[in-house]
Amino acid sequence: MYNILVIDDDEIYLKSIQNLLEYKNFKVTTCENPLNVLKLLKENSFQCVMLDVRMPGKDGLDVLDQIKKHDPQIPVIMVSGQSTISIAVEALQKDAYDFIEKPVNADRLLVTLKNALEKYTLQTSQSALISQIQEQYQIVGESKAIKSILQQIQKIAPTSAKVLIRGATGTGKELVARALHNLSDRSGRPYLKINCAAIPENLLESELFGHVKGAFTGAFEDKTGVFEAANGGTLFLDEIGELDQRFQAKLLQVLQDGSFSPVGSTKEIQVDVRIIAATNQNLENMIDEKRFRSDLYHRLNVVEIFIPALDKRKDDIPDLANYFLSIYTKTYNKKITHFSEQALLYLSKQSFKGNIRELKHLIEKVIIFCESSIIELGDVKKAFESEPVSGYEPFSFESLKDELLKHEKEYIEMTLKIANGRKSKAAEILNINRSALFKKIRKFGIE
Ligand SMILES: Nc1ncnc2c1ncn2[C@@H]1O[C@H](COP(=O)(O)OP(=O)(O)OP(=O)(O)O)[C@@H](O)[C@H]1O
Ligand SMILES: [Mg+2]
Repeated sequence: MYNILVIDDDEIYLKSIQNLLEYKNFKVTTCENPLNVLKLLKENSFQCVMLDVRMPGKDGLDVLDQIKKHDPQIPVIMVSGQSTISIAVEALQKDAYDFIEKPVNADRLLVTLKNALEKYTLQTSQSALISQIQEQYQIVGESKAIKSILQQIQKIAPTSAKVLIRGATGTGKELVARALHNLSDRSGRPYLKINCAAIPENLLESELFGHVKGAFTGAFEDKTGVFEAANGGTLFLDEIGELDQRFQAKLLQVLQDGSFSPVGSTKEIQVDVRIIAATNQNLENMIDEKRFRSDLYHRLNVVEIFIPALDKRKDDIPDLANYFLSIYTKTYNKKITHFSEQALLYLSKQSFKGNIRELKHLIEKVIIFCESSIIELGDVKKAFESEPVSGYEPFSFESLKDELLKHEKEYIEMTLKIANGRKSKAAEILNINRSALFKKIRKFGIE
């Protein structure tokens, strides 16, 4: 039920509007004193406001300003006894939805109200959808690596350059592909994804390029391929390393001249599609072994974005864990507020072979089982114990001293983060004294 706020100093008028609107199944809140408007707005959710222009104590146009400051989208219908053109113009300039005169004609009011509410619900559902999408595709993390990736995305997204995204499984390749599309001027156009490994070879060609009726047994009608369906938008080719040789040649051809023919047709279709490809394979090795065409590789790899494994940017773990906490508490409707310091510290020391996907699933599991408002060390450990082992792997083969120093630095950075930059707290967790911590911060050049 829509909730309408009606503001006027005339009690009799308020009563008559209330009767009319309630009869039409609206919920009505009346307000005689304009000084109470802000409080009412804060405590309720209205979908439309009817506002008198002239009231003792406060000018209706000022109240309009207040309302718009509170919620720029809410429609405000101005109502006036002695309106002048100049006031009406000013109200509309201040983004009032409409201006109607007293005595109010019931039909006119109901039509205006209906239109205003339609517009408002459309706007708000759109902005809810947009923020939902933004949340769904948010790239979380403040490590150097993530910051640099975000910068690259900003720069590359607006161009139509082909991008090759690389990184191990679960590092966020698809998330980056999405961001590239969402931040480009193609964002209003389709984003389509095809997983080259998941589609059987005999269907891939028709999936990519479409087919005409009768092209092969089972082709009962024409089918549009993803290349055509993504026209004007972005096509994400996932697991490009799995593409077999024959397809590599076909794809190369499309990339070279931007046109193709559906299976069973001689018609050339010209498209404008931005290609983003991703792989977790070592394409260079595959080229050496003649398993991947180097000409295709160079076509696809105009710009490369590399996403390092989570083990190389463990300082992102607390942020990611908190982010997934906020998501899954909503999903599972749990009243969990935060991780204990030890729980977060423990998480940050683990190795995640499945990268962010693994961390995400683990947090989901922790949240499902957690019964209190804080996630304690024990909750996290328990979830780990029931998890397939994800062992420790050295990053690269360096001298023991270098390896240990690297760990020491990362560990200190992470602890500082968890302690919100409070050095005495960090020193306490690390069980060293403050001056020793200061020395190390200087030694490692930690910001
Ligand atoms: N930086 C990040 N911030 C928030 N969520 C992330 C981040 N990176 C990855 N994720 C989440 O982790 C999961 C795995 O990410 P994604 O599917 O993009 O990985 P991928 O690199 O495509 O993996 P694969 O190679 O296995 O297909 C997704 O649910 C994604 O939303
Ligand atoms: Mg993927």
